Amino acid sequence: MCGIIGYVGPRPSQDILISGLARLEYRGYDSAGIAVIDGEGSLGTRKRAGKLQVLRDDLAAHPLADGTTGIGHTRWATHGGPTDANAHPHLADDDKLAVIHNGIIENFADLKAELVDAGHTFRSETDTEVAAALLGREYAASGDLVEAFRATVSRLEGAFTLLALHRDQPGLVVGARRNSPLVIGLGDGENFLGSDVAAFVEHTRHALAIGQDEIVAITPDEVTVTDFSGDAVDVEPFEVVWDAAAADKGGWSSFMAKEVSEEPEAVANTIRGRVHDGIVEIPELDGLDELFTDIDRIIVIACGTAAYAGMVGKYALEQWARVPVDVELAHEFRYRDPVIGARTLVVSISQSGETMDTLMAVKFAREAGAKTLSICNTQGATIPRESDAIVYTHAGPEVAVASTKAFVAQITALYLLALHVGRVRGALDAETIAAQVAQLEAVPEKIARVLATEQEHIEQFAHWMADTRSVIFLGRHVGYPIALEGALKLKEISYIHAEGFAAGELKHGPIALIEPGQPVFVMVPSPSSSPLLHAKVVSNIQEIRARGARIIAVAEEGDAAVLPFADEVLRIPLAEPLFEPLLAVVPLHIFAMGLATAKGLDVDQPRNLAKSVTVE
Ligand code: M6R
Repeated sequence: MCGIIGYVGPRPSQDILISGLARLEYRGYDSAGIAVIDGEGSLGTRKRAGKLQVLRDDLAAHPLADGTTGIGHTRWATHGGPTDANAHPHLADDDKLAVIHNGIIENFADLKAELVDAGHTFRSETDTEVAAALLGREYAASGDLVEAFRATVSRLEGAFTLLALHRDQPGLVVGARRNSPLVIGLGDGENFLGSDVAAFVEHTRHALAIGQDEIVAITPDEVTVTDFSGDAVDVEPFEVVWDAAAADKGGWSSFMAKEVSEEPEAVANTIRGRVHDGIVEIPELDGLDELFTDIDRIIVIACGTAAYAGMVGKYALEQWARVPVDVELAHEFRYRDPVIGARTLVVSISQSGETMDTLMAVKFAREAGAKTLSICNTQGATIPRESDAIVYTHAGPEVAVASTKAFVAQITALYLLALHVGRVRGALDAETIAAQVAQLEAVPEKIARVLATEQEHIEQFAHWMADTRSVIFLGRHVGYPIALEGALKLKEISYIHAEGFAAGELKHGPIALIEPGQPVFVMVPSPSSSPLLHAKVVSNIQEIRARGARIIAVAEEGDAAVLPFADEVLRIPLAEPLFEPLLAVVPLHIFAMGLATAKGLDVDQPRNLAKSVTVE
């Protein structure tokens, strides 16, 4: 949550900051602001509540003197509502110092009381202004911004990325991080800081990852990284594989529409380079067999959509690798004293690689002696760097808050992992692996078919349903997490009450919700490859139809058995049961997007949410 950018170099910084913020806006859009040291050595700031466009309009109407050193922020509000006053930057040292922040300073109330006692007055309700005040006091004492940071961070508890510049130090931006993201972009005679590489990818692909509890100072020609004690540290260089165009909307009406259309390639790119002669070989896992052989249990941890991908992955890991798998919400996992140790592999899943709940759970698992593997979509992110092994998903940048292409890429990565672990543990023979790989490799083309043949129909259908107040989603087996995902997506972007249930659970209570006209999406298993499950689900459909439910069946092409009982059928191509989720979720993503669009809502930036949840 909150997007951060810093720039030093020869160019006027405002355009660089604003376009960086546009790429970071998915991280929060309650307010935006910039601070720039202009050519006269004055510090100018501008900040406005609302989306970045409000700030843009303000700057166009009342230009701010430009300069070559600047910082910018886009906010997801925590302490204090989304107002101009609470927007970042926050000023200190007689308004000569500007600070921006991502995270939560947990001891801000004590620090604020101390500063108020000392005579400091505050202009906002934020925890950030407390950090700014401390930094200002330390800078006034030492005249050294890095030293002032060091003294300040030693007083802070919680999670933070802080960036600051001082009017008297043009050409210098200093940052610090603890449990919150920050990466460096290396340019030619210019340098950048960003919450993630999206901040600067249009200017450079050369990046450095900063570790926890480190302070970075950038000037146009130099980057210096030290730890909180002042010792120099090694930083890890990497090349950004995303290009700037990949994070642009192109001609699409929304990032979500673009990203749903990219679901086929998200799957294909995640498979690419990991299959050789029908055998799965994940290069990142070379030499790490003991992660999979010396274990008796896997725990998958994740949040939201990533957790639903984990629930789908459990079926594959258990079926192919023959290891018991539990799937847990990351924020619940570490607060219940779980029984884990050296024979537990904890697999975390995160698109952003920055979700604080997941990060804390990974750290907790490591401290408890478990092995850790991260499935992640973002290079340089914190969670993979805190894990023993990484399997990247190659979905490309996902900007819309609602996760779509990352979800199918996560399931794909879990399936590759399951086949890899199955081979390493001797649970699978080459023939079985090759057969599953062939199924997986056929998925991109099948998703493309769903998009080509069903998208228009589903969008039209969603339009008709724009007045709906409640939708239920049902699934069995791997269809159950897809039902949960369909409900989450609808809630998230269309603000309609939606619930996902295991179809078999309905008669244990939720069936009381069914009244005439209640729309119910049902994930119907394949009649040919799962006849037993198919028959059970058709019975479930009859039970609710008898009570007046309006049935929308997501069913395999050619499945005629559902026709008499369904008011609407959304077709997906034939696939083995484990591969159905990758197809069945596509109509649900299209439906949620279509319904939110029909309601005139912003599908990319739904209310109250942010893409990357970097607070607990
Ligand atoms: O970046 P992550 O994958 O860790 O994010 C996890 C969830 O916050 C995320 O999937 C969220 O549920 C999505 N907005 C759902 O569409």
